[in-house]
Amino acid sequence: MSFKDIYEKSIKNPEEFWKSLSDDIFWFKKPTKILNSSKSPFYKWYEDGKTNTCYNAVDLHIDNGLGDKTALIYDSPITGNKSKLTFNELRKRVSKFAGALKNQGVEKGDRVVIYMPMVPEAVIAMLACGRIGAIHSVVFGGFASNELASRIDDSKAKILVTASCGFEPGRIVEYRPLVDGALKLAKHKLQKVIFYQRKGNEIKLNSPLEISWDESLANAKDTDCVEMNSNDYAYILYTSGTTGIPKGIVRDIGGHIVALKWTMKNIYNINQEDIWWSASDIGWIVGHSYIVYAPLFKGCTTLLFEGKPVGTPDAGVFWRVISEYKIKSLFTAPTAFRAIKKEDPDGKFFSKYDLSSFKSLFLAGERADPDTIKWAENLLKVPVIDHWWQTETSWAISSNCTGIEMMKTKYGSACKAVPGYDVKIIKPDQTIAKPNEMGDIVVKLPLPPGTFPTLWNADKRYKDNYMSNYKGYYQTYDAGHIDEDGYIWIMSRTDDIINVAGHRLSTGAIEEVLSEHKSVAECAVIGIADKLKGQLPIGLLTLKAGVDQDNETISKECIKMVRDKIGPVAAFKIAIVVKRLPKTRSGKILRGTVRKIADKEEYKMPATIDDPKILDEIKDDLIKNNILK
Ligand code: COA
Ligand code: AMP
Repeated sequence: MSFKDIYEKSIKNPEEFWKSLSDDIFWFKKPTKILNSSKSPFYKWYEDGKTNTCYNAVDLHIDNGLGDKTALIYDSPITGNKSKLTFNELRKRVSKFAGALKNQGVEKGDRVVIYMPMVPEAVIAMLACGRIGAIHSVVFGGFASNELASRIDDSKAKILVTASCGFEPGRIVEYRPLVDGALKLAKHKLQKVIFYQRKGNEIKLNSPLEISWDESLANAKDTDCVEMNSNDYAYILYTSGTTGIPKGIVRDIGGHIVALKWTMKNIYNINQEDIWWSASDIGWIVGHSYIVYAPLFKGCTTLLFEGKPVGTPDAGVFWRVISEYKIKSLFTAPTAFRAIKKEDPDGKFFSKYDLSSFKSLFLAGERADPDTIKWAENLLKVPVIDHWWQTETSWAISSNCTGIEMMKTKYGSACKAVPGYDVKIIKPDQTIAKPNEMGDIVVKLPLPPGTFPTLWNADKRYKDNYMSNYKGYYQTYDAGHIDEDGYIWIMSRTDDIINVAGHRLSTGAIEEVLSEHKSVAECAVIGIADKLKGQLPIGLLTLKAGVDQDNETISKECIKMVRDKIGPVAAFKIAIVVKRLPKTRSGKILRGTVRKIADKEEYKMPATIDDPKILDEIKDDLIKNNILK
């Protein structure tokens, strides 16, 4: 069937479409009710089905005779370690750790926070949760104590699974002070903290709260997969919201398995015998969906990479990994390729490796600039595909569906809506835009399976935030247009979220930290364009009257506060003191206008501006601080 036919079928009769796809996964009890729309916008897919995430990711393939096939390859250029686990070995380790979790009192529905570096044990912990019906919440290792504490509090987790340390180029990330800090800050009390001791970097544990990974396994029994209702949750993944309080995106079990398994062939053209690599981190949605779940649901071999595109040890590491393991396709963020391009613009490292296995590169997480796509195409001589998605959806909203039909590339566009997503552009007057007219990008409800049915313990926030501005539609908070051929162009966010090296951050959350500084009266954080990371946050600060600290000290302290409270991942390195912030007459800070000035974009003088002279002052400040050249 052509892409057009499949797409139309999915939109005209979603129930029939998703019913037939649900036959491709393992169910303890097949669903008879495919979609329940009675409580819109809270839709339920496969309501009466019973299944298990871990069974579909691991056991099913063993049942089908693939027990000796490699499920997980671990390659860590940062430590020099490499290993492989077959599906049989993976099941053994997952089922034992599931037993260990049970020994610590974890039951169906309990939450387990996982704060770990990119080691196989992190994937084992995720799958073990699925095995016993616990809900995992993975927290990215680059977040600091505050963020970890807010996730422990909101999820009311029973257990934290962590490690003695992570490794970043040039430094060891000690988890102990971060965990201790989080436990001090969190109001909710954990029952146990399980530390995975990394060889050579073991730490002393404090019983009775703390136990090592190995100790926890000592008297653990092999544990089978439990039957879960399709609408029970597989995980919570917190993502940036417009305030400092992160949003707990939840994923229900049945729809997640059906949708993600379908994407492997249809979007990525990956078959069961292929070897797949997603160079992301399990702390992000790309890592959840495409390091762990989708490739394992499909029964492929997936690669877990603990390293960076450059510096571990050089800009050739991606090519080394692709050639060593015969990777068919790679999925990463454009930043990774910009970093390689910067270090090795002529692709000298590339020529050292045999990349004959390599068939396509997928990019997402931030806007892929045409220069980088063209550079990658020239070097790799394979299709480079920009596709668009969000933590909220867990799989691509728009893409070239390469397993159905290869479409032509339009540089700067994230291709067409994927089957299941009825994407529209809405204008401020609430009418649907014509081709090429800009507006808010929305998706007609119901969203397909595998997307978020609600927010963790926050139905109202879900409804108010995402489903209310445009009745009958999910508001993506991205703006752009759809052209006459149906290609979607993602141009910007419409809220205060920025994308720094493919990492989603809230400028509002950074402002909350800055405003806690004793000398800061007001602040504004904006994301300015950056050649490597796409965007970088900068802070503009005004000071309280009578402050006796010098500006440099205040800036330094503010930068440190953001690093300590949010984490190094915020990449917050610029805070400048300004006399005044530009505002509307009603007091709203004109962040958008300042961003345009910093990025040398054209801007209109806002009609409601309180004092236009402030924009000139800001321009001078940006020049003085080398931001505007
Ligand atoms: N644990 C602890 N700290 C971490 C971390 C982790 N898991 N990941 C990143 N950090 C730290 C980094 O060490 C760095 O700290 P520093 O300020 O002391 O140098 C800071 O957070 C910023 O990290 P990052 O934005 O990754 O910048 P970088 O300069 O270290 O690396 C790239 C630049 C381009 C190599 C890197 O951003 C990259 O690989 N990007 C790919 C994007 C990606 O995978 N996105 C995931 C979504 S698809
Ligand atoms: P996250 O939830 O971290 O995946 O971030 C989602 C946001 O990243 C989207 O809402 C977009 O703003 C941005 N994004 C993701 N993929 C793309 C893409 N291909 N092009 C442009 N922006 C993207």
